[in-house]
Amino acid sequence: MRVLTYGTFDLLHVGHINILRRARELGDELYVGLSTDEFNAIKHKTSFMSFEDRRVILQAIRYVDKVFPETHWDNKISDVQKYDIDLFVMGSDWEGEFDFLSEYCDVMYLPRTEGVSTTLLKKKKGI
Ligand code: CTP
Repeated sequence: MRVLTYGTFDLLHVGHINILRRARELGDELYVGLSTDEFNAIKHKTSFMSFEDRRVILQAIRYVDKVFPETHWDNKISDVQKYDIDLFVMGSDWEGEFDFLSEYCDVMYLPRTEGVSTTLLKKKKGI
């Protein structure tokens, strides 16, 4: 059973670890599509850490089996097919957004961890 999730995972925090752990516990393998810096620019986001650094950190997490670049909004169906994904998982801030994937795999939204986000951390630290 292979699980897939996506994100930027900048300034890694406990909310990220929680969703990665819970996603991994739902299957045997966890694949993560990591937003590239170019894709973040399209989303009007600038990460503190580079794609390469975010990738190194994510790959070091025990719940993560494979990290691949996410470069475009429209790659999700082909990623699910290419990586033979059984379950797609995202935080509840994305509730309903990826229901179109249910034609290809199971889709689940997990509750976010309260009180923490990369945006909040940046604000708190003035970065
Ligand atoms: N996430 C979560 N709980 C949080 C923050 C994030 O479960 N407190 C989940 C998101 O729902 C998403 C994944 O972690 O499925 C990656 O989210 P990402 O956008 O990289 O992290 P955020 O902290 O939400 O970043 P930002 O503030 O820039 O939106």
